Amino acid sequence: MLCYYPFLYVIGVATLITYENDLKNGVFYPEALLYIYKKASFFAYYFLHSPLNVWQLACPKQERNSHPPWGRGLIFLFPMTLLGPFTELLTLQNLPMRGALQDEQIEIIPDAGVLYNADGIIMAVGKFLEMKKDALIQGYAIETITESLVLLPGLIDCHTHTCYAGNRAQDFAMRMAGKAYLAIAKAGGGIMHTVRATREASLETLKALTRTRLLRHKKEGITTCEIKSGYGLSFEAELKMLQVIADLQQEDTGIDLIPTCLAAHICPPEFENQKAYITHLITMLLPEVKKRNLSHRIDIFVEETAFDAENARYYLEEAQKMGFALTLHADQFHAFGSKLAVEMNAQSADHLENSTEEAIEYLAQSNTVAVALPGASIGVGDKFTPARKLLDAGAILAIATDLNPGSAPMGNLLLQASILAMYEKLSTAEVFAAITFRAAYALGLQDRGTIEVGKRADFVTFKTTDYKNILYQAATTEHIHGTWLKGVKTF
Ligand code: NIG
Ligand code: FE
Repeated sequence: MLCYYPFLYVIGVATLITYENDLKNGVFYPEALLYIYKKASFFAYYFLHSPLNVWQLACPKQERNSHPPWGRGLIFLFPMTLLGPFTELLTLQNLPMRGALQDEQIEIIPDAGVLYNADGIIMAVGKFLEMKKDALIQGYAIETITESLVLLPGLIDCHTHTCYAGNRAQDFAMRMAGKAYLAIAKAGGGIMHTVRATREASLETLKALTRTRLLRHKKEGITTCEIKSGYGLSFEAELKMLQVIADLQQEDTGIDLIPTCLAAHICPPEFENQKAYITHLITMLLPEVKKRNLSHRIDIFVEETAFDAENARYYLEEAQKMGFALTLHADQFHAFGSKLAVEMNAQSADHLENSTEEAIEYLAQSNTVAVALPGASIGVGDKFTPARKLLDAGAILAIATDLNPGSAPMGNLLLQASILAMYEKLSTAEVFAAITFRAAYALGLQDRGTIEVGKRADFVTFKTTDYKNILYQAATTEHIHGTWLKGVKTF
């Protein structure tokens, strides 16, 4: 037991620092104990396997790295699960956050296993057979995979409008026949059409519609999904949309949801002008969103039919002062928005179909993630985001579906990524990075996107022996075997 003492000491001190003020005031937090337990389980695992474990040094060599006898009794405190073997496990770790990637850079572990704790945090990744020996000795649970599967980090869709009511098939038919997206919007259709339907829908109806769509996302390998509001455009309706997302986050959908307030999607007709609406958002809606803890991020559509750069800047500055992270719909039809995104140090600038060479350069110099939305290019018949140029210039590129009833009704992240890659000439490594750890970065998340120690055990598995089949077969979801969210299999 002595071996644990230094760790418990460090953890105890860390806990005291964390809760210092409250403890001084005599407030007791049960979560302080939970904090000690969680940290202890993490450190204990490492300690037991490290050369610092004096018990191991006293052991015959072949028994080293096995759990000490007294430790075995403590296993119930540190439950672990070993999952495998996988024909191939792509860790995607140690890849740079920005710029071009070659497939040879991908770390592939054949016949691999992954070990995670009860909190769904990865504790070890390696060769399954070696890990299995250890797991047997230590009494860890072993979930044996009996078919040939390739394991990837769970896919992250960092830009969607999954919460909406109504249908825009009529818009789609008009666009196919040649009517422009912006012309439909100017005639009072487009986004406003969905706003009317979404305002009318009850919270429960909206929740049911969104839940059904999330089920589809899950079958497409998504484990983290950003969802925007933006079809309410009134105080009540925007809060209703964000509440739907919050409620679904509490449900067992198998997907972690990241809500974004896109109340600045377009200026609704109830407001005299953009400035009046933006002022309403800053003074009324955003404080309420913050108070109810419904979202930590805001988005704005910078475009001819939406918000101009001046109003957008004012909104972004005020929202940033309130502590919101920023993301923008930028350069979709006209080349403005991305510069503002970079100047405001936004988490991401999304769309970029019409970005200039200059915009590519300043995006590449920034930490603002360039998010390509191939479904929107296909859905409005526009060009693709210059993904190749962005990567070659050194930008951080993510790819998302933009799933929405108007410009991008397609969904299916892998299919969209595969199409974009074919037209923009992207390597598989660049695509996988764009829908995992680089997409996580776009959402400000550091705890997921790769398979490595300390990250969330969010996985997607494919029924294949070779990772190259994943994008090759992206037109169907039949080869997707399942997903895991924090170590729990979701289908
Ligand atoms: O990301 N461009 C603005 N917003 C959405 C489209 C919304 C809609 O058409 O309903 C987009 O493309
Ligand atoms: Fe969008």
